[in-house]
Amino acid sequence: MARLMSEALCIGRVLSSSKPGDEVTVRGWIYRTRSSGAIVFAVLRDSTGIIQVTAKKGNLPDEDLDAAKSALIESSVSVVGKVAEDKRAPGGMEVRASSFKVVGTAQPFPITEYQSEELLLDNRHLWIRSREQTAVMKVKASIMEGAREWLRENRFTEVTPPIFTQNACEGGVTLFKLKYFDGEAYLSQSAQMYLEALIFSLERVYSLTPSFRAEKSRTTRHLTEYWHLELEEAWTDNAGNMEIQEGLVSAMVQKAVKDRREELVLLGRDPETLKEVVPPFKRLKYTDVIESLRAKQFDVSFGCDLGAVEERAVTSEEKVPVFVTNFPKECKAFYMKEDPDDPRTYKCADLLAPEGYGEVIGGSERETDLAKLVERLEAQCVPLSAYEWYLDLRRYGSIPHSGFGLGIERIVRWVCKLEHIRDAMPFPRTVARAYP
Ligand code: 4AD
Ligand code: MG
Repeated sequence: MARLMSEALCIGRVLSSSKPGDEVTVRGWIYRTRSSGAIVFAVLRDSTGIIQVTAKKGNLPDEDLDAAKSALIESSVSVVGKVAEDKRAPGGMEVRASSFKVVGTAQPFPITEYQSEELLLDNRHLWIRSREQTAVMKVKASIMEGAREWLRENRFTEVTPPIFTQNACEGGVTLFKLKYFDGEAYLSQSAQMYLEALIFSLERVYSLTPSFRAEKSRTTRHLTEYWHLELEEAWTDNAGNMEIQEGLVSAMVQKAVKDRREELVLLGRDPETLKEVVPPFKRLKYTDVIESLRAKQFDVSFGCDLGAVEERAVTSEEKVPVFVTNFPKECKAFYMKEDPDDPRTYKCADLLAPEGYGEVIGGSERETDLAKLVERLEAQCVPLSAYEWYLDLRRYGSIPHSGFGLGIERIVRWVCKLEHIRDAMPFPRTVARAYP
């Protein structure tokens, strides 16, 4: 199978490098088709683009013309023909078929032009063939590639933390609990605690794993399973952590701009607006944010967490992500470092995407004071025994360190201007569904 029809050219290649008169073999799926009497106009798509194929009586065997006439959209086909210019065709070129073979017939496709969201989600396995979804997946791949390139250049080692865990890193409310033989375990919310253990040998580490949150709320920015890029660095404070974040996010975005311009345009995102996403990002203090929200008549005060609505108000006029630093302790998790300059708060930052998209990163310096960690865990009434291994990290050569977690689909949603985060996943898992 590896060599099946290896003489075939990808459509992008035909469009970019073939000349009129060249004979080519293309293969792909029928994206649109119409026939008028003795001629069939079929638009084929493959992973690289779309091209028009014309099958005209006399140019190809009658049985091939019949096959072309009866092939429904999403049939897979292989076509041999000559390249010709045609101004009306997508890309300005077409292939005039001398052979048209159906590889796999298609039944009437369940998705037509105007469809409800529900039907598209029920048929996700077919809908991911659409040009929009394909564009999103390509942008996402480039964003992750951009991250890995930047992390390699900056000497971070990729590590592989577990998904089964017995610790609640981000609190008990959003944990998925499961039976683990005779005991219990959770699906990981965050690799952070394991990354903290790994810096003692590797110093600069990151992981890209699925994370799980039993989010009961139906929002446009929560998935129950998402891809989490997490990083932990030894000998770094929260200020250094923010510099890493702005460097990394900018590299991810610029990679997409460089490699996926066409896809971004197809999705309605002007790549020029993303070119401005370069360090440094603005840094706002939580207390100042609360003050400016109050000035806009928001009913908030010190201690309130920022939800989607507040984050939208903070970022809707921004073009570049902004940091919000120094959240009150009651808003954040137990492992963050108390800020000696304002002990009501932690040395932490959320990075909010612009244009109203909101939180894409949560990060902080980590608490190194063993007694403080124990006190906070006890206050949460969690069994300390499950955290003894984590507390050991403070008992054996503890050092200042910081890290963060970035939601890949949150970044993709912003960069691709998606209404809903589920479209940043080929098979989204939300409170409403886990099928197909
Ligand atoms: O802010 P969070 O909860 O932080 C942590 O999990 C830290 N332990 C990470 C760390 O320091 N290593 O989650 C981090 C990011 C959020 O900023 C958001 O981008 C994303 O993960 N995220 C989600 N993305 C999609 N759906 C959800 N339900 C998400 N929950 C968090
Ligand atoms: Mg957060």
